[in-house]
Amino acid sequence: MNRSSHMMIRAALAVFACLMGSFASADQSISKAAFGKTTEGTPVALYTLVNANGMKATITNYGAILVSLETPDRDGKMADVTLGYETVKEYIAETPYFGAIVGRYGNRIAKGKFSLDGKQYTLATNNDENHLHGGVKGFDKVVWQAKAILADKGPGLVLNYVSPDGEEGYPGNLSVTITYLLTDDNELRIHYEATTDKPTVCNITHHSYFNLAGQGSRDILGHELMIAAKRFTPVDKTLIPTGELRPVKGTPMDFTKPTAIGDRVNAKDEQIEFGGGYDHNWVLDNADGSMAVAARVYEPTSGRVMEVLTVEPGLQFYCGNFLDGTLTGKGGKVYKHRYGFCLETQHFPDSPNHPDFPTTTLRPGEKYCTTTVYKFSTR
Ligand code: BGC
Repeated sequence: MNRSSHMMIRAALAVFACLMGSFASADQSISKAAFGKTTEGTPVALYTLVNANGMKATITNYGAILVSLETPDRDGKMADVTLGYETVKEYIAETPYFGAIVGRYGNRIAKGKFSLDGKQYTLATNNDENHLHGGVKGFDKVVWQAKAILADKGPGLVLNYVSPDGEEGYPGNLSVTITYLLTDDNELRIHYEATTDKPTVCNITHHSYFNLAGQGSRDILGHELMIAAKRFTPVDKTLIPTGELRPVKGTPMDFTKPTAIGDRVNAKDEQIEFGGGYDHNWVLDNADGSMAVAARVYEPTSGRVMEVLTVEPGLQFYCGNFLDGTLTGKGGKVYKHRYGFCLETQHFPDSPNHPDFPTTTLRPGEKYCTTTVYKFSTR
């Protein structure tokens, strides 16, 4: 069959499936189900995306949260590799940003203050004296408009949210579009776009907690991690960067060669002590804005491998230091200390207060446009 007739069949299938209330093509599909209501009574949905290999992602339009991600191990056995909850109620009650889209500014802004074009802005502070992950009610706690799509690369979900001028203290109406795509190459692709009507700052990220042995099964200390970064941004004890770009060589932050997360996570080291383990931003070697591998993680018991590719200059590696067994997630699993890790692609923390860091300023007429890929395979 030639490409155009193949595409016509796909399109016809998509139209048919659309009439049936879901999208499907070959083995790819998207379906939608109710996922409960917010405290204000707004109904939210859960979308299930399946690619041609049977890999499955579920995403809700509450917080644009990736609720689950099922990937095969080296024997083809599927497991859910992200932490999260089964109901929207639990996400509303308490979450350390499980699977969420985080913004308008992912990571910390010192004391919730910055100035732009000579004007001082004061943001909500929600991490002691600092602003973290967009504030008290960030992008992880709002309802997004969602549209299921069947793109050439695979099933996807397009999510829109307009963050009003002044929300959490940020200037400008910010119009945001997030596109999740689950491709037949076993990639979860996340594309971010935003425009503003006043100068503002923008640094959006994705906050899944991964455990490639299967969510809730054990800690993540045996995962072997490589980060393509020769430097990191050291922090003070409130986790705000000092401004230095410090070489990782000879420190527990050196992941230039694959190393088990647990090997040095309790090292006697000031940076490790400040973070309670790893909770730092790495300065990615690839700094020209092209797509490159930022990190690779291998879990030896399952054989699962996850690669993170991005065009962003930074990567926050957080190894679940604040998980302490008080949250119970999907399947009744208790999330204990270091049961999940996050690899958050981003611009550096507190960039609005560090003029020599890559800029996070977004102006009217410009487009914030960035892509990150979480790619799964086995070994
Ligand atoms: C931060 C951590 C924080 C966690 C959950 C991470 O991105 O770096 O310090 O505890 O998110 O809020």
